[in-house]
Amino acid sequence: MFALGNLVTAIAHEINNPINFIAGNLKPAQDYIHDLLALINLYRQRFPEPGAEIEEAIATIDLDYLQEDLPKLIDSLKEGSDRIRGISASLRTFSRGDSDRKVHFNIHEGIESTLIILKHRVKPNEHRPAIEVVKNYGQIPQLECFPGQLNQVFMNLIANAIDALEESNKGRSFQQIKDNPNRLTITTTLSEDRHHVSILIQDNGEGMSENVKQKLFGYLFTTKPVGKGTGLGLVISRQIIEEKHGGQLTVTSELGKGTELAIVIPVAS
Ligand SMILES: Nc1ncnc2c1ncn2[C@@H]1O[C@H](COP(=O)(O)OP(=O)(O)OP(=O)(O)O)[C@@H](O)[C@H]1O
Ligand SMILES: [Mg+2]
Repeated sequence: MFALGNLVTAIAHEINNPINFIAGNLKPAQDYIHDLLALINLYRQRFPEPGAEIEEAIATIDLDYLQEDLPKLIDSLKEGSDRIRGISASLRTFSRGDSDRKVHFNIHEGIESTLIILKHRVKPNEHRPAIEVVKNYGQIPQLECFPGQLNQVFMNLIANAIDALEESNKGRSFQQIKDNPNRLTITTTLSEDRHHVSILIQDNGEGMSENVKQKLFGYLFTTKPVGKGTGLGLVISRQIIEEKHGGQLTVTSELGKGTELAIVIPVAS
């Protein structure tokens, strides 16, 4: 995960420069095109009979359509480059390298960037509609924490929830899933004394048996096939929450109903 974080940072950084050239040049390109089209219109008004050669060229390139389509095309290039910039910004938020001391961090940004990275797993596919993501974000202060590590925890817990949802879909038809949709709920709250923040990550997936619940945080414990799970996600997450942040990571789960992972961390350490 750590090496992956570095790789993601490097890629996000490399993407950022070229996308900025594109975004930065689109605006002047749009102005030039606007000016050229206005000039062409002026020519056409002033010289309505330009002669056969030019009339033929106008017909060949379908000038009327071109004039109408070109500005739209630039708009969609702008839209595309804005989206890539958004993704690249999220990747950088997600994979922030941590220094050796804690910094203030808005964890909602961390959760959002994690959800963007996991978007491909949430969106609809041929077997099921999109997973519903419900966000109940409370009014919480910035946390004094290691942001990169907390993002890693969000990634582990949300990926586990999605795995559990996918598992619960086995043997259910598209319609059955649609009637009882996969749901991921993320809730953040500030404790009454304002000293702790809690982050709940709930899914209505397969849930877990008593046996799994007892072994869940064990080193290398996994119920997933080889190659899919290593059984490290929760061990690492608990270490990050409890040892690095003085918090707590606990689980509540009911077989067939769903699971809730609760993170509680102090606002300042
Ligand atoms: N939300 C959940 N619902 C049901 N079972 C879960 C959930 N989260 C974790 N588990 C169970 O706990 C086990 C351990 O989870 P953990 O994240 O530590 O490892 P993993 O997901 O199997 O592998 P990885 O190292 O890739 O994370 C999982 O294999 C699964 O059986
Ligand atoms: Mg996992």
